[in-house]
Amino acid sequence: MKNVSKENPKGRKRVVLVAGTRPEVIKLAPVFFALKESERLEPVFVSSGQHREMLDQAFSVFGICPDVELGLMTPGQSLPELTARAITRLSAAFTDLQPAAVLLQGDTTTVFAAAVAAFYQRVLIGHVEAGLRTGDLYAPFPEEMNRCLTSPLARWNFCPTELSLANLRRESIKPERCFVTGNTVIDALYYVRDRLRRTNIAAPEVAARLGVTTAFTEHFLARRAARWILVTAHRRESFGVGIERVCAAINKLTAMHDVGVLYPVHLNPQVQEPVRRLLGSNPRVALTLPARYEDFIWLLDRCHFALSDSGGVQEEAPSLGKPVLVLRDTTERPEGVTAGTCRLVGTDPSRILLEASLLLNDGDEYARRSSLQNPYGDGRAAKKIAELLDASV
Ligand code: UD1
Ligand code: UDP
Repeated sequence: MKNVSKENPKGRKRVVLVAGTRPEVIKLAPVFFALKESERLEPVFVSSGQHREMLDQAFSVFGICPDVELGLMTPGQSLPELTARAITRLSAAFTDLQPAAVLLQGDTTTVFAAAVAAFYQRVLIGHVEAGLRTGDLYAPFPEEMNRCLTSPLARWNFCPTELSLANLRRESIKPERCFVTGNTVIDALYYVRDRLRRTNIAAPEVAARLGVTTAFTEHFLARRAARWILVTAHRRESFGVGIERVCAAINKLTAMHDVGVLYPVHLNPQVQEPVRRLLGSNPRVALTLPARYEDFIWLLDRCHFALSDSGGVQEEAPSLGKPVLVLRDTTERPEGVTAGTCRLVGTDPSRILLEASLLLNDGDEYARRSSLQNPYGDGRAAKKIAELLDASV
């Protein structure tokens, strides 16, 4: 433990926020800042360190230094060993910190382990981004299970939309434990978008940070008229054949169309190896390290469309008016699909090619699917969550 004293300052009740991966930091940062405004509550950030580099990168964008770092990540970690270590170390941290409540976000192993650890100590749990469901326990794997098991343990389920609230009601979660707040990713997105507007970053600057070649930068990133696709893919259900099929589709796409691809590759070795092997020599493809959040939003705002299996990207893209071809067979975020921005295409190369070609060739279709939509809230979700906690912790 670094900065946290055993005593709570001014008798404030301690709320521990737990994050282990990039999306959890991005989506909890606005809640941390909103809780800092409270005179009754003291927010304390615990990093489980489920991810190392990608987590540090996300914290640094928001200027947050976690109060406690558990450093859980080991290379190529398995789910059982990660889960067991996370429960043990988070339990010890909660014993030290004596929180009045813990706040978790999303669907990772860190969330599930922290929920179990908090439950054993009878600490109240708040779940941010609660109630998302595909209805298939194996997709996304194991995230659907993590969500399903966390909901009944939570005193406060902060649902992003009415649809996620309805999912919880179907599972008989009591209404007094459910609140519709919007998704805090929109708060984070607006925060970063406003900062980007003020700083007006140029393409070569972003390209230099990502290590993108001058040729790719000049041909694609720096030319407003040029068309390039932003790709992210890292889901466990796609490991092996799925990722290889996505790479095959990308190679065909760049051979058929005058289009570039920029792909910040997740650090998981099960993603790095096939992607670098299959796409590393394609001159129209820029493979980069994970982008810092600000750079990623810069990229998402300028790409022609996105090809992604990420949950967060499905939520951000409608607010930026960018179509997403979702590399999955099912999604726990149907709002973006209903809005018309997101379309499920799976990992079959012929389907990806067909759908990508439609967006590249048909201007009317592209215009229809790139209209601005915002099914995930007004950017004030974190404030609502902080107010609810302030009134009831
Ligand atoms: C995890 C989450 C997933 C979340 C995703 C966010 C689980 C089961 N899955 O999946 O819900 O959407 O993170 O990105 O909780 N690695 C590094 N450095 C990093 C990050 C990862 O080296 O900064 C490598 C390590 O070898 C690590 C491996 O990636 O062992 C896998 O990490 P892990 O947390 O087990 O699973 P993810 O598939 O990344
Ligand atoms: N993101 C980022 N850099 C990247 C790729 C994604 O900052 O190189 C952001 C993205 O904008 C979104 C979040 O990370 O807010 C999504 O994280 P990820 O795809 O790892 O997890 P998921 O959302 O699928 O749980």
